[in-house]
Amino acid sequence: MKDVMPTELVFICFMLLHGFVAALTCTSPTPESLFAAFEKNLFPKKLLRPVKSFSSPTNITVGITVVGILEVDEKSQSLTTLLWRVIEWDIEDLSWDEEECGTKLVSVPREKLWVPDVHISEFMEEDNSPKTPFVYLYNTGHVYDDQPIRLVSFCRLVIYTFPFDIQNCSLTFGSYLHFGTDIRVIQGSTSEEILKESHGVLETDGEWTLVDISVAPSTLALDEGSYSQIVYHIILRRRPLLYVVNLLIPSCFLITVDLFSFLLPPDSVDRSSFKMTLILGYSVFLIIMNDLLPVPGQTTPLINVFFATSLALMVASLLETVCITNIQYSSRQYSAVPHWIDVLVLRYLAAVVCLPRKKNSNQTTFFSNPYNTEPAQNSSTTNISAFHLQRVSGDTPPAKPQPTPLNPALEELRKLSGNLLAIRLQMDKHFTGSNTVPQWQMVGAVIDRLLFGFYIVFVVVSFITIICIWILNDSHAV
Ligand SMILES: *[C@@H]1O[C@H](CO)[C@@H](O)[C@H](O)[C@H]1NC(C)=O
Ligand SMILES: *[C@@H]1O[C@H](CO)[C@@H](O)[C@H](O)[C@H]1NC(C)=O
Repeated sequence: MKDVMPTELVFICFMLLHGFVAALTCTSPTPESLFAAFEKNLFPKKLLRPVKSFSSPTNITVGITVVGILEVDEKSQSLTTLLWRVIEWDIEDLSWDEEECGTKLVSVPREKLWVPDVHISEFMEEDNSPKTPFVYLYNTGHVYDDQPIRLVSFCRLVIYTFPFDIQNCSLTFGSYLHFGTDIRVIQGSTSEEILKESHGVLETDGEWTLVDISVAPSTLALDEGSYSQIVYHIILRRRPLLYVVNLLIPSCFLITVDLFSFLLPPDSVDRSSFKMTLILGYSVFLIIMNDLLPVPGQTTPLINVFFATSLALMVASLLETVCITNIQYSSRQYSAVPHWIDVLVLRYLAAVVCLPRKKNSNQTTFFSNPYNTEPAQNSSTTNISAFHLQRVSGDTPPAKPQPTPLNPALEELRKLSGNLLAIRLQMDKHFTGSNTVPQWQMVGAVIDRLLFGFYIVFVVVSFITIICIWILNDSHAV
């Protein structure tokens, strides 16, 4: 008893100085005697906030550790996390002597003590994490309360740059009822410490990585009074690899294939059916991958714009192929190229896409009667003789028949043949016009080349954008 005296003296002085109402006294250093003292002096006061006067606020220290990022749901705009929440406060009129009672700290049931009503403003669902019934009580009256929390909190998720998005979710801790004059919430550890500890214990290794945590005290001022709060900002970054591999790269492949299909001759039917197959494939791809895409809210994600633009380009290139096939197949029935198209397409656009304007040639290739050597009698066709045509068509005329003795029937047949040829030339000229076919074909080629250029620009720009956003996103990584 003698050697305990100085400590007791110090204690009594301490009590007198600070006006402690009661220091607990234990009859022996055993749990039984300590709990008997609790039953007598502490537990009956659990209905009261443990302060000496109403005017002094209770300081509540709040600290969190992020143990798991379970889910980020764009549709319900929610974040599900697993937290360790530590709350600490002091019971003002409580103390006991470590030697006298045999321990410095003891765990007591939480329901036996006054517990602050600290809650998280962003909670969405009832907390169904396991309940822990105990808190630690120190001999200085300090209470240490540590609880695991599975928290579903709402968070404004911005998915504009999906899948390269970074989310900033806040968790606000504060008393629900008590004003700032009764309960003051203060920050436990610094954000660096929280981040370090969280990285040490973070068990989930899913789609999201914890990038940063920042802490700031804040005050919520309402009409009734102001509330003391502490706000944690949790910065999360999505791991984009899954989406890059499953969405962006296949999409880019399909576009590249569509791009290279421009190398097929436009008038071959293969090209349009090839493009049609690609569009079909792309649609099926989008339907399958739709589950991976976030549900857009107010803003449309950039990736949806990318898909829509890709599909639009594919459809445009198919339409263009159809038009060009049409132009090249049936341009004979068209009248001459209108002047504005001639100027716009053949002069300016052709220069833009580096297709030099071809010299117009009036060569028409038709088979002709190789035996006819006489110029046709008809006035409009006299300048195109069968002989010229036959030279144009590249047919080598067979050796001229030997002059035969005058045969009136043969002579008559030749004349008839000449007349027929003249009629046919007239008809051909009527249908072809003079030079519409090559001109229309040229228009088709220019538009084809133009869309090809657009396509290349789009593909290059989107590739560069994706890579830039990716690199920018990576620079935020820790
Ligand atoms: C609460 O903390 C403030 C400073 O943060 C301090 O001045 C005050 O004494 C503390 N109150 C109690 C009851 O410890
Ligand atoms: C997160 O959002 C809060 C406000 O909503 C802002 O103060 C904070 O700077 C943001 N943090 C980051 C890293 O953007």
